[in-house]
Amino acid sequence: MRVLVTGGAGFIGANFVHQTVRTRPDARVTVLDALTYAGDRSSLAPVADQVELVEGSIADADLVDRLVADADVVVHFAAESHNDNSLGDPSPFVQTNLVGTYTLLEAARRHDVRFHHISTDEVYGDLPLEGDEKFTPTTPYNPSSPYSSTKAGSDLLVRAWVRSFGLRATISNCSNNYGPYQHIEKFIPRQITNLIDGVRPRLYGAGLNVRDWIHVEDHNTAVWAIIDRGTIGETYLIGADGETSNLDVVRTLLGVFGREADDFDHVADRPGHDLRYAIDASKLRDELGWTPRYTDFAAGLAATVDWYRANEDWWRPHKAAVEAKYAATGQ
Ligand code: NAD
Ligand code: DAU
Repeated sequence: MRVLVTGGAGFIGANFVHQTVRTRPDARVTVLDALTYAGDRSSLAPVADQVELVEGSIADADLVDRLVADADVVVHFAAESHNDNSLGDPSPFVQTNLVGTYTLLEAARRHDVRFHHISTDEVYGDLPLEGDEKFTPTTPYNPSSPYSSTKAGSDLLVRAWVRSFGLRATISNCSNNYGPYQHIEKFIPRQITNLIDGVRPRLYGAGLNVRDWIHVEDHNTAVWAIIDRGTIGETYLIGADGETSNLDVVRTLLGVFGREADDFDHVADRPGHDLRYAIDASKLRDELGWTPRYTDFAAGLAATVDWYRANEDWWRPHKAAVEAKYAATGQ
C-alpha cells in the first residue's frame, strides 16, 4: 500500500510514520511536510531509510497533485495546531487548515484516492466543568478559537466532498495527545522541559480546565483501524477516557520530579479558554473493535518525561524562543 502522510514531520504524524514502518512492512510511506517551526526532519531520523520526505506545502496544488496521484491512501495530519498561536495570528491557520485541506481534497477527487482526515474534538467547543456529558459524533459543531474553527471548516469540506463528489473519505476527531516528539510549546512537554531546567510549571488561570488525554500511539492505532475497517463517509471520535484537570497533570509531573505538589505558578489565562473536553469513543470501540493500550496515564507521563530527558538535543534548540514568546503574553 502506498501511503501519503501529510504533516509526517510533526508530533502525531511522525509517531504515525514510526508505527506504520514498524507494523506494516509492505507499506511504502511518503511524507509531505512544509517543515514549519513545528515540523522537524530529525523526528523521522530513525526511519529515514524507509520513508521518503518531500518538503513542501499542502497548499501547493501541482506538488499535491503529483504526490496524491501516486498514493493509495492519504492520511492528512498537516495543520497549524496550536491554539495560542492562532490567537496571535490566525492567517496561517486559514491558509493551511482550510486552503491546504481543500487542495488535498481536490487532488484526491481527481485521482479517486482514499482519504483519511485527522481532526480534533475542539470542533465541538467545550463542556461544562461539572457533569459527565461527553462529545459524540452527533454533537453540534461550536468551535471557540481560530485554530478550532479552521479545523471545523476543514471537516465540513471533507463531508461535502464525500456527499457531492463521492470521495472515499473518513474523519476522526481525537482528544489531547501526549507522548514523544511533541513540540515544547504544548502543555505537557512545556512543563516537563521547565522542570528539567528547574523552572516552575505554568498553569493558565486556576488550572481547573480538563483535557481528555490519550497516548499518541493509541491515537494512531485508532487511525489505522478506521482506514482498515471504517465506513466511508463516517466520523469516528477517538479518546481513551483520560479526563484530567491541568492542575492534576502538573501535580503528577511534580511528583515524577520529586518536587512539592504546590511548586508551580498561575499565569495569565488563555482568552476564550475551553473548559472541558471529553470523548465518547463507543462507536470506534464497538464497530471497529479498537481499544487503547496506554491506560495508565501516570505511567505514560513518566515514560514521556524519560523521553524528554533522553532527547534533549531534539528540544533544547527551541526552548528559549518558545519561552520568550510566552513571556510576551504573560504566560
Ligand atoms: P504539529 O504542529 O506537531 O505538526 C504539524 C505538522 O504539519 C508539522 O510537521 C508542520 O511542519 C506541518 N505543516 C504545517 N503546515 C503545513 C503545510 N502548509 N504543508 C505541509 N505541512 C505543513 O501538530 P500535531 O499535534 O502533530 O497535530 C497533527 C494533526 O492532528 C493536526 O491536524 C491536529 O489538528 C490534529 N490533532 C492534534 C491533537 C493533539 O493533541 N496534538 C489532537 C487531535 C487532533
Ligand atoms: O483537544 C485536542 C487539541 O489538543 C488539539 O486539537 C490541539 O492541536 C492541541 O494543541 C491540544 O489543544 P489544547 O489547547 O488543549 O492544548 P495545549 O497543550 O495548548 O493546552 C492544554 C491545556 O493546558 C489547556 O487547557 C491550556 C493549558 N496550558 C497550556 C500551556 C501551554 C497551561 O495551563 N499552561 C501552559 O503553559
